[in-house]
Amino acid sequence: MTSPSSSAFRVGLLGHGTVGSAFHALLEERAEAIAASVGLRPELSGVLTRGRGDFDDIVERSDLVVELMGGLDPAYEHVMRAIRAGRHVVTANKQLLSHHGEELYAAAREHGVQLRFEAAVCGVVPVIRVIHETLAAAHIQRVHGIVNGTTNFILSEMTTTGASYEDALAEAQRLGYAEADPTDDVSGRDAAAKMAILARLAFGAPVHIDHVPYEGIENLSAEDIAYARELGLSLKLVGSAERVDGGIAVRVFPTFLYAQHPLAAVNGSFNAVTIESPAITEITLSGPGAGGPRRPRRCSATWCRR
Ligand code: HSE
Repeated sequence: MTSPSSSAFRVGLLGHGTVGSAFHALLEERAEAIAASVGLRPELSGVLTRGRGDFDDIVERSDLVVELMGGLDPAYEHVMRAIRAGRHVVTANKQLLSHHGEELYAAAREHGVQLRFEAAVCGVVPVIRVIHETLAAAHIQRVHGIVNGTTNFILSEMTTTGASYEDALAEAQRLGYAEADPTDDVSGRDAAAKMAILARLAFGAPVHIDHVPYEGIENLSAEDIAYARELGLSLKLVGSAERVDGGIAVRVFPTFLYAQHPLAAVNGSFNAVTIESPAITEITLSGPGAGGPRRPRRCSATWCRR
């Protein structure tokens, strides 16, 4: 087995679609800055796609394996084999973690490697790290949030421009927010997978996606949107995970929110999560939850107007 270089950190990439190729470009662009910050220079050791690369060879030549293929097969087998080979793994695969999280966390512990998955929930919003590390000592009571960018975009478009559900969904697909098959987005299943992952972290108890009841936005009508607007409410797809009667309850459902609610003004493909604990009262994290890099929005705060 090749021994890891002392100055290079070898990264094997599984998957080179929209997310994989964006990661590849960013890794090369930021390699020097990362080296200056952590003392190890990340280098791509190989890329596995359907048409190129050899999995065993890539694992052999990597210190870290990054899984960005999505889906369960062959992602589960690849991630498990990489962990068992003693490689750290980073994955953005919410389906994988919400189905097989327990086996994967146990294998990572057994083999003394890290399994990291910040990008699996809420895009670039660092909610995993905050729940798992920053708030590790807090007794989290409840987590709720907008965790699917596609549905938030659709509901925002229908509300602000009067777009039809079909047109808004087509636009979300064009902008790269939706999954290849958007059924998981609009049915609430994608949000259910993400809430299962957050609940597992927040409460330390196994939560499988099959135990998360969910309802999506397919059956919402223009009348529902108009009704919300008339009453000054926001209609959002909300995921909720909370301690209830000695157990935990996790679910996803469309919800009317009053205008002052921290999630009410989260629009477009943005996501947001509110975490409640007696130790911190509550904090809300928000940011882009779907799609690739984009131009920064023009700042509308008074302090940055020119
Ligand atoms: N389709 C997902 C969403 C992508 O819309 O939130 C990010 O997980």
